[in-house]
Amino acid sequence: MTFLISNRLKTIASHIRDNVFFVDIGCDHGLLPIFLSKTKKLKGIIATDINIEPLKNAEKNIKAHNLEDQIKTFISDGLQNIPNNKSDDIVIAGMGGELIKNIIEKWEFSKNSSKHFILQPMSKHSILRKFLYENGFNISYETPIIENKKIYTIMSVFFTGIKKKSSHIERIIGKISPDDEIGKLYITNELNKIQNILNNINNIPKEKEKFYFYKSILNKLLKLI
Ligand SMILES: C[S@@+](CC[C@H](N)C(=O)[O-])C[C@H]1O[C@@H](n2cnc3c(N)ncnc32)[C@H](O)[C@@H]1O
Repeated sequence: MTFLISNRLKTIASHIRDNVFFVDIGCDHGLLPIFLSKTKKLKGIIATDINIEPLKNAEKNIKAHNLEDQIKTFISDGLQNIPNNKSDDIVIAGMGGELIKNIIEKWEFSKNSSKHFILQPMSKHSILRKFLYENGFNISYETPIIENKKIYTIMSVFFTGIKKKSSHIERIIGKISPDDEIGKLYITNELNKIQNILNNINNIPKEKEKFYFYKSILNKLLKLI
């Protein structure tokens, strides 16, 4: 059966290591686990969702591909029902950055250096990065991608226990490199957001301090691209 998935899901799949137990949190349609079972050598695949309707949708798609024996499905609120010995690479994708943060924060399970989290926030990426840095999670690398004219990042994250304060720049661009074209676009996108803030507060006397702060951020971003 022909099987096409989005560039976003394909790039998320490229972050998954070989020969690991894979878990998809909030699998919805189940396309990522299906794609992985066809393209990667894995020890096991789990697809979960907090809601029954999306899980049923995933199960229908999994059945259509005759993969019921390879992909285990069940209901789970975040990491709640995930077996420790059957989870190495864990994807939490296609949700807001704050929801992803809440899922990681809620379960002590995540504070385990052998787990590899692949996180793809649809929004509020800087809130997620701030939380990760301040709570002992290291962002190893990020891959920026474009889908439907919007730009997103995919983060590979490991718990190290080393907590660090993050600068504003680190929170808005993380490990995105200006050396590749999409990375440059990602940084330009952030730069445009800062420019909008500056335009809105320019000439407002009580916002002077804020204005100079964002102006310095803008200048730092301009130097990167
Ligand atoms: C927009 S879909 C994203 C689907 C897929 N991960 C992707 O990236 O295309 C978000 C899914 O996350 C599920 N979800 C929301 N909160 C969740 C939670 N706390 N635990 C597990 N799944 C959750 C929703 O039910 C929904 O199916």
